[in-house]
Amino acid sequence: MSKIVLITGASSGIGKATAQEVVKAGHKVALTARSEDKLNALVEELGKDNAVAFAADATCYDEQKKVVKQTIEHYGQLDVVFANAGKGVSQAGTENGDPKEWDSMVDINIKALLWSAQLTLPHLRKTTGHFILTSSAAGRRPIQGSIYGASKWFAYGFGQNLAEEMKEWGGRCTTICPGVVNTPFFDEAKDDKLQPQDVADAVVFAIDANQRNSVREIYLMPTN
Ligand SMILES: NC(=O)c1ccc[n+]([C@@H]2O[C@H](COP(=O)([O-])OP(=O)(O)OC[C@H]3O[C@@H](n4cnc5c(N)ncnc54)[C@H](OP(=O)(O)O)[C@@H]3O)[C@@H](O)[C@H]2O)c1
Repeated sequence: MSKIVLITGASSGIGKATAQEVVKAGHKVALTARSEDKLNALVEELGKDNAVAFAADATCYDEQKKVVKQTIEHYGQLDVVFANAGKGVSQAGTENGDPKEWDSMVDINIKALLWSAQLTLPHLRKTTGHFILTSSAAGRRPIQGSIYGASKWFAYGFGQNLAEEMKEWGGRCTTICPGVVNTPFFDEAKDDKLQPQDVADAVVFAIDANQRNSVREIYLMPTN
């Protein structure tokens, strides 16, 4: 059955590859991120029958609210949300970290994630839908002084709790925890690590699993 899938962070990396795989699997997507030009190019590639783009800054509550409204107006329903937008920091560690960078990272990795859930749950409830989020392997194991990792521990914990909340009405929630993926998240290429396609395959697996099967988490690591 074809589903309507809203993807945040769809302009690049994991989100973009997931949009491509989700459409290949027969679903339709609403794409959001700040880079309107990249989103429009992706809609051209995927076809206007399969994809629509709504540019927005996810760290602005009202902008996210508008994206959800536009998605419902366009497709009439929402079956799956992939809350994937996120960022790292350039100054590693706690003692040497930059609190200004922490602000913007917490805004996107934590607050925007919570808003994505809060704003879409009423629609997912109507379709007995599915919320999927991108945590990280960095949210599953200690990394020396990592504030980014701590934000992903938050995402991981939130995903577990949300799964219990959604279970009340038959909804499913999946937390995706990838190790290093070769995306623009890093300044240099990571050709020998996971590719965005690998994460996209995991997301499609969770979406297409039988409704009785709530895939709670997928933890992917590069083999090397
Ligand atoms: N790459 C890895 O090794 C790795 C591993 C584990 C988890 N992750 C997580 O995977 C997710 C996707 O990252 P990626 O590797 O695909 O990196 P990426 O290519 O840099 O993609 C990040 C996406 O987030 C969007 N975004 C960032 N800030 C935003 C904002 N304020 N409002 C709206 N959209 C925003 C970006 O779009 P715009 O700039 O166009 O807004 C972009 O589409 C992130 O949550 C990241 O933490 C990555």
